[in-house]
Amino acid sequence: MGALDGRVAIITGAGRGIGREHALFFASEGAKVVVNDLGATNDGTGADISPAQQVVQEIEARGGEAIVNGENVADWEGAQRMINAAIEHFGDLDILVNNAGILRDRVLVNMTEEEWDAVIAVHLKGHFAPTRWAAAYWREQHKAGVVKPRNIVHTSSTSGLFSNPGQSNYGAAKTGIATFSQIVAKELIRYGVKSNTIAPGARTRLTLATPGLEDIMTPKDGVFDQWDPANISPLVAYLASEACVFTGETFLVQGGNVTMIESWARGQSIDRESRWTVADLSDAMTSLQRPG
Ligand SMILES: NC(=O)c1ccc[n+]([C@@H]2O[C@H](COP(=O)([O-])OP(=O)(O)OC[C@H]3O[C@@H](n4cnc5c(N)ncnc54)[C@H](O)[C@@H]3O)[C@@H](O)[C@H]2O)c1
Repeated sequence: MGALDGRVAIITGAGRGIGREHALFFASEGAKVVVNDLGATNDGTGADISPAQQVVQEIEARGGEAIVNGENVADWEGAQRMINAAIEHFGDLDILVNNAGILRDRVLVNMTEEEWDAVIAVHLKGHFAPTRWAAAYWREQHKAGVVKPRNIVHTSSTSGLFSNPGQSNYGAAKTGIATFSQIVAKELIRYGVKSNTIAPGARTRLTLATPGLEDIMTPKDGVFDQWDPANISPLVAYLASEACVFTGETFLVQGGNVTMIESWARGQSIDRESRWTVADLSDAMTSLQRPG
């Protein structure tokens, strides 16, 4: 028996890289999969449905069930059509994995408006729009008395969570996604929906485009391949399964390591029963110290 037997899953950006591995693994665990991918280049330009079609063919060749979907996840109506495609073809939707992503790295002083907008659109709106349409469907189902577990897994990045220079567009979007997931978790728990986020580390065309990373990520004979993108999918399948006990959490995942991320938390404070002056703050603020 598979961990996802009979469940219907949409995986965005599943034509290549990490999403492709999710699609193959989900199908091997018994899920019926909508393989979404626009087929864009690294920077989000262009469109080519063939990588997603190949993933579907591979799933079918292994006896699994899948359909292809070429919608742009950042397109409002396109996202709705993608959710409807799962429901129309497989009769339901249980799992949404928001994974599609692009990069347009640039230091802030050189970043163009277009580079900012494109990355924010694919990541933030590309997480919001599918989630919004899935949530509307799940609320409707819940109101109709169809009560069952549903799962969303979003994709963040250490580039955002740990503030990587040169990626202010991508990092802001990726940290936004982690917060978005926490809010989704709080709003949708009443409909039986769990929402969690991963920040993966794997060898894909996105990371291979980053200077210096190719050497680190090259597999070595006889040693566990820490950077194989297939290492990410079992955690995503767990978070997408009925067995998942988490919601609103973010996990780093790379190789055989899974690490929980601590959310924003209140730290030390200064406090008094009157408005501060700048002069008093200049003294009092020195009592707030970063550990180490
Ligand atoms: N590889 C890593 O180590 C790493 C690290 C942190 C975060 N991530 C995130 O993981 C996710 C997957 O990235 P990857 O490394 O597998 O990259 P990838 O380029 O191999 O795959 C991304 C896929 O998303 C698709 N896509 C892009 N824009 C789309 C759109 N608007 N609509 C539908 N599909 C679209 C692309 O066509 C591509 O197939 C991304 O969200 C990325 O930011 C990856």
